[in-house]
Amino acid sequence: MNAMTTSAEPVTPTEAANVPAETPAQPYFVARDLHAYYGESYIVQGVSFEVHEKEVLALLGRNGAGKTSTLRTIARAPSPELKTGEIWLNDLPLHKMVSHQAARAGVVLVPEDRRIIPGLTVEENLVLSRIAEPCGWELERIYEHFPRLAERRGQEATTMSGGEQQMLAVARALARDLKLLLLDEPYEGLAPVIVREIEKIVAEIKELGITTIIVEQNAIAALQLADRAIILDMGEVVYEGTAKEVLENEDLRHEYLAV
Ligand SMILES: Nc1ncnc2c1ncn2[C@@H]1O[C@H](COP(=O)(O)OP(=O)(O)O)[C@@H](O)[C@H]1O
Ligand SMILES: [Mg+2]
Repeated sequence: MNAMTTSAEPVTPTEAANVPAETPAQPYFVARDLHAYYGESYIVQGVSFEVHEKEVLALLGRNGAGKTSTLRTIARAPSPELKTGEIWLNDLPLHKMVSHQAARAGVVLVPEDRRIIPGLTVEENLVLSRIAEPCGWELERIYEHFPRLAERRGQEATTMSGGEQQMLAVARALARDLKLLLLDEPYEGLAPVIVREIEKIVAEIKELGITTIIVEQNAIAALQLADRAIILDMGEVVYEGTAKEVLENEDLRHEYLAV
């Protein structure tokens, strides 16, 4: 209500403060006009999108489109450098954070190379993820969901197969206080039978209601799990729609995804 309005029942300051805000509640995650650079190289060129709570968003595009760079920007990796733009997880300004602060806020990136720590066992890798508070899943719960890791808990993690290391990389993310999971090409370099196993794990993660952004070269596999999709090309969002729309739009897939 405007202060100048004459009204029969004047609004007291307390009542005025209780008037609900007119803007709708903001989405769970918002990337707003991100511009990010590797040195002089301008790579992420004004990317904006939203992710709703418990949603799986597929972030697609050809090789070199800027998918990894976008994920790294969101996770506040040291490079690429975010020059302008805002990143919000609920009311937390991720754009003002560095990577360890974003991780503590619950943004966990599972990078393409998985970053399994050499010389440590499976269990040591998991325990290390639980060193910094707040923590996520207990080891027991992780082993229940990943029986393969339970069997191999004492094995040096880097001696496991690629698929098992990918499971460990995802399990480590769950061991943290996870609010937004960023999966960069989780099926990359894995045999089809192993891809199906990892797909099951991603489907389980979705069932659990963990908000996820999945980047995949295997667009069809990602779209089958995702609720919505955005397509990047040359560092810009060129399409945004439901996963179903992208699956059904052959021209779009030919143009931007080469599938
Ligand atoms: N560390 C880097 N320094 C400079 N340019 C980079 C670096 N990493 C990636 N790029 C460039 O940024 C663009 C987008 O790369 P990337 O985000 O890895 O694409 P995608 O994950 O979609 O394949 C590419 O042109 C790539 O060569
Ligand atoms: Mg990439």
